[in-house]
Amino acid sequence: MGDALERELQTHFGFSSFREGQKEIIEDVLTGRDVLGILPTGVGKSLCFQLPAKLLKGTTIVISPLISLMVDQVKQLKANGFKDVIAINSLMDMKQRSVSLNQLHRYSLIYLSPEMIQNQWLEKRLQQLKIDLLVIDEAHCISQWGHEFRTDYLKIGKAAEKLGRPPILALSATATPEVQKDIKHQLGLKETKDHIYKMDKPNMTFSVESCERPEDKLDRMVTILRTKKLPTMIYFSSRQTAEHITEELKRHTGQRIAFYHGGMEPMDRLLVQQQFMNDQLDVICCTNAFGMGVDKSNIRRIIHYHLPTQLESFIQEVGRAGRDGLPCTSLVLYTPTDHFLPLRLIQSELPEETDVHKFFQFLQTESDLNRGDIAEKLELSESQWNFLRFQVEHLSDTSRQEAKVKIIQQLKNRSYYKNRKFKEMLDWIHYDGCRRVKLYAPFQEGFIEPQVPCCDSCGGSVEDLNIFAAQDSDHEEESWEERLKAIFLQGNNRV
Ligand SMILES: Nc1ncnc2c1ncn2[C@@H]1O[C@H](COP(=O)(O)OP(=O)(O)OP(=O)(O)O)[C@@H](O)[C@H]1O
Ligand SMILES: [Mg+2]
Ligand SMILES: [Zn+2]
Repeated sequence: MGDALERELQTHFGFSSFREGQKEIIEDVLTGRDVLGILPTGVGKSLCFQLPAKLLKGTTIVISPLISLMVDQVKQLKANGFKDVIAINSLMDMKQRSVSLNQLHRYSLIYLSPEMIQNQWLEKRLQQLKIDLLVIDEAHCISQWGHEFRTDYLKIGKAAEKLGRPPILALSATATPEVQKDIKHQLGLKETKDHIYKMDKPNMTFSVESCERPEDKLDRMVTILRTKKLPTMIYFSSRQTAEHITEELKRHTGQRIAFYHGGMEPMDRLLVQQQFMNDQLDVICCTNAFGMGVDKSNIRRIIHYHLPTQLESFIQEVGRAGRDGLPCTSLVLYTPTDHFLPLRLIQSELPEETDVHKFFQFLQTESDLNRGDIAEKLELSESQWNFLRFQVEHLSDTSRQEAKVKIIQQLKNRSYYKNRKFKEMLDWIHYDGCRRVKLYAPFQEGFIEPQVPCCDSCGGSVEDLNIFAAQDSDHEEESWEERLKAIFLQGNNRV
């Protein structure tokens, strides 16, 4: 294969060389093997299936977790002349969808959500194609979301069987050995070629600052934003707080700031994402609904107003910054009571043992799990209901009594697992040694020497970035057209 692959890279994507890991993964993919690829955020995992999609005769299907991510990638590909690519998602209207479904054979790369690939009608269409590669992008979602929130992630293995079991490529930036095992297990992968690389971000300075009260966080953020206008993401676990802080920050800094969360209309979300991508916003206040896989090169700061529930999420979220390789920084703001919210979130994702009993009682008189009102009747959150429903369907060959015992056991396992994960996060916050060492320890041995001040324990701080970023200080001065557009979009979009 040798240099031929480099030529294809140049021809189709205009890149002169592969980044670490890409070629190795692509070569194995092209030989039809099942591959697990763990490469750091922003390195170019997408290329590991986009180039094969170009080279393979048949169709490549990519399972992607977020519509925004699919739309973003399809847009970028089309802009670069890769036309036979499509994302089939719920934003398409009926007509668009039926037109594209009738012409599926025309596409060499098809993006789908894990829910969409379970769609029986679509499945029939896909069965008529020759599928050469099935990719699971952001494959840690299988482990992170599959068990409760999005159980269709656990059904991808079965879907692959129905499609003639094409070779599988699972990609992620954040998978501990434990999660790698879960990914393989859930996908039914027996012999994979593993390509696991270090996940370091040598261009990022890590810091944690403790605040006494939530208001202090606002003051601190205002100070930081005012020192320098730089593309910044602020992560929240609460939609309401994200909206509230957006208003406060706008008022105190005069910068272009918008919020983004899962409670917004999909079109509004896309618009805010596009504005941020196009540098029409300085700061985005978002929940974890934003960001995964989103490829904006010049984000300089990631601030966590709330704590993520696990280190993996944290690494994903800080992974949005500095994709151009230039210095970037992460700051976690922390008050002594900040662990309550994540713990509450974890609890709300899983049903209680009493809910399981209630559910089984309910099953004695009702067998149709498709009824839309069951969750409401049993007072379960969406993710609690998804967990129960998946488990019951999964254990349909087992006696009721046995299923109940197994489900309760699984519940305990998951709860234990999630709490253990969160404890890792908390330990990191309270750690007083090098944060880089501690952060990467569960994922890899050692770390790559950073090119920027390492972390607050090693003498760095969020302010360091101002020195590094000084060169591009104020050339962001906007034109009147840009300003007008921003005002116009603000009016239209409740931002
Ligand atoms: N060989 C290459 N040479 C130059 N640029 C590349 C190369 N491969 C990928 N890129 C660019 O790197 C950027 C990041 O790629 P991509 O979005 O695929 O990263 P990723 O690994 O999927 O990150 P994430 O974990 O956040 O999803 C893209 O803009 C892409 O065009
Ligand atoms: Mg990606
Ligand atoms: Zn350090």
